[in-house]
Amino acid sequence: DEHPLVLGIETSCDETGVGLVRGCGLLSDEVASSVDEHARFGGVVPEVASRAHLEAMTPTVRRAVGGPDLIPDDVAKRLRDVDAIAVTAGPGLAGALLVGISAAKAYALALDVPLYGVNHLVGHVAVDQLEHGPLPKPCVALLVSGGHTSLLYVGDLATDVRLLGDTVDDAAGEAYDKVARLLGLGYPGGPPIDRAAREGDPTAIHFPRGKWGDGSLDFSFSGLKTAVARWVEDGQRDGRAPSVPDIAVAFQESVVDVLTRKAVDACVSHGVGHLVISGGVAANSRLRELAGQRCEAAGVELRVPSPRLCTDNGAMIAALGAEVAAAGLPPSPLDLAADTSLPV
Ligand code: KG4
Ligand code: ZN
Repeated sequence: DEHPLVLGIETSCDETGVGLVRGCGLLSDEVASSVDEHARFGGVVPEVASRAHLEAMTPTVRRAVGGPDLIPDDVAKRLRDVDAIAVTAGPGLAGALLVGISAAKAYALALDVPLYGVNHLVGHVAVDQLEHGPLPKPCVALLVSGGHTSLLYVGDLATDVRLLGDTVDDAAGEAYDKVARLLGLGYPGGPPIDRAAREGDPTAIHFPRGKWGDGSLDFSFSGLKTAVARWVEDGQRDGRAPSVPDIAVAFQESVVDVLTRKAVDACVSHGVGHLVISGGVAANSRLRELAGQRCEAAGVELRVPSPRLCTDNGAMIAALGAEVAAAGLPPSPLDLAADTSLPV
């Protein structure tokens, strides 16, 4: 195969991800998560995440290149086949990014292969190629996770990505996590709200739609979170037990209604026929359903990676690194720095 073998390293948040990719082929994808260590805080604690990355990095690389039983000499031999290292340069948590970048530099230097610092958000789009083949050019991407809610125009993964819209306050997944906390559903909040909503009456409550019909492609979820909090407080004051499923379905409808409408609007207004939805919230069953319906109505083809590839992982970074290498872009210098707010 003439495509280079790319090792990708991801440490922007609470997942230590290492993946191996050749072209659009996924060879391995290993993830160690510190999510359980953050659960009792109700959100990611940066210092805890950094320490967990440090501990998980070497074992995760080892698993990605050959399984847990390889002796160090065998791991070194397998690593010698790697043609390039890709690493998340940002956006993300400073200390967390630094662990991945430091490891990536060490591997690139030791193996004498190029290092590519890449953008985490664009990685979430690139990963779709590993499942569904080369992305049509152009496409629009909706990235929804605990840390981001962004609409991207992707003319080319390596050279032409533009930000069309973003959240002005909370990320979509962050809103799920905060509302789940209000409802006593635990962390992370997306899966339990997704489940509870299936039992709810969608006509019982109506919550506001943030930045609905404002003509922009931006999002806002903090007003919705406040509306849910007020509903719960009012219920407690009036002595009526708030129905968790009814609140969950009303909250979820508000979120996915705005997400899907703006994503399809972005496709239509830019004359783009393909939409990719990725990030942890892309696992949401109602988001997938409504996006499917609205894309079909608008003549837009929808691509959603499987949930495992939607959440943070190293394969997505390797997939983007492979694109950057194929585009002939220069490698990153060995003094590559973490950029917590790296633009696309
Ligand atoms: O991509 P991800 O694993 O990590 C980052 O934030 O980068 O996304 C995690 C987020 C969490 O906020 C979690 O609550 C949300 O994705 N999530 C969901 C679902 N599964 C995970 N949100 C809604 N519905 C789900 N089924
Ligand atoms: Zn992410």
